[in-house]
Amino acid sequence: MKKIIKACIIILLLGGLCFLGYYKYQEYQYHQSPEYKLLQKGYTEKQVQIILDKGTEKQIETIIDQDYNSQIPQLMNHKDFKRNRFQRYLNYQGPKSIDDLILLVNQDIDQTSIPYSDDLLNFVKTPYFIKYNLSRYLDYKNKYTDLSYPEIIKRVNSGIDVDFYTNIKKTDTSKGNLVLINKYDQLDASYTPNDLQAIDDDNHYLSKEAALHFSQMIHEAYKAGYNYKVNSAYRSYQDQEEIYQEYKNNYGYTYAENYAARPGHSEHQSGLAVDIVAQDPMGRSFDQTEEYAWLQEHAHEYGFIMRYTKENEYITGYHYEPWHYRYVGVEATQKMKQEGLTFEEYYHYYIETGQ
Ligand code: DAL
Ligand code: ZN
Repeated sequence: MKKIIKACIIILLLGGLCFLGYYKYQEYQYHQSPEYKLLQKGYTEKQVQIILDKGTEKQIETIIDQDYNSQIPQLMNHKDFKRNRFQRYLNYQGPKSIDDLILLVNQDIDQTSIPYSDDLLNFVKTPYFIKYNLSRYLDYKNKYTDLSYPEIIKRVNSGIDVDFYTNIKKTDTSKGNLVLINKYDQLDASYTPNDLQAIDDDNHYLSKEAALHFSQMIHEAYKAGYNYKVNSAYRSYQDQEEIYQEYKNNYGYTYAENYAARPGHSEHQSGLAVDIVAQDPMGRSFDQTEEYAWLQEHAHEYGFIMRYTKENEYITGYHYEPWHYRYVGVEATQKMKQEGLTFEEYYHYYIETGQ
């Protein structure tokens, strides 16, 4: 009997020891876990959960090796947090809020050599911001401190932070109906559209799609009782050279610059622009006629824009031309109209950068 009791005691003792060992082992294991280490650092249970959910193994190790940082779980819990930018969020100095920090790093602003400033942040947050123009926006802001951020973005995106006819680039003709031709973007002297079509009996031609839409537009206007006359449509480089020289000789340099493009810089060379006026203006200027009013209301339905408006003379570099219509296609006209953009702004933001 005694033996049995002894054996029981031994078994109980062994069992107890085993249990204790097992318990100690579990405890040891737990102390090795990231969860325990993070709690020891001072992170709350909720913060630990976020770190474990959002961080990679390596990032969690780094967090454990550093002092408690309340920013880390906040960062990781942000809807736009990107794991692969973790270290960059921590390194980038300047932004005062997590939202701003994440916004700037996600746009790779921390990778530029431009130091953080409130102006920089405001530009990034302004609609139509284009990253590669950032230093130009900041330079412009330094020069014209009173201008608003959207106005500076409009000007710089349009290129007018440098003088007209400087910084000249070759027009990217692969953009089809959306080619940009202005005082910075130039067509080669040899460029001629290969699909010109007559739009009247008076030797005026437009590129095929533009010609088709133009004819439809004029036909609809005619049905509504309005008649037009084309003054000019496609013009070759040489035609443009003559026009520019003629304006200059007859009216002087400033007038020529305000009303005629230098050769290579005219939309007329692309076969996408047409100068159109009322057939019988009855002594009124074109913008006083019903024909003009009809175009104002309907040209966009056919993919045409009035290219040189009064309010954007400083952007286009041309005096207001109520007669000059440019074909860009219906999709582009709708978007420009909806968003109130000039063709320069539309092109540089949506077409060139592919946003
Ligand atoms: N009159 C416009 C600006 C041109 O010459 O193309
Ligand atoms: Zn014109």
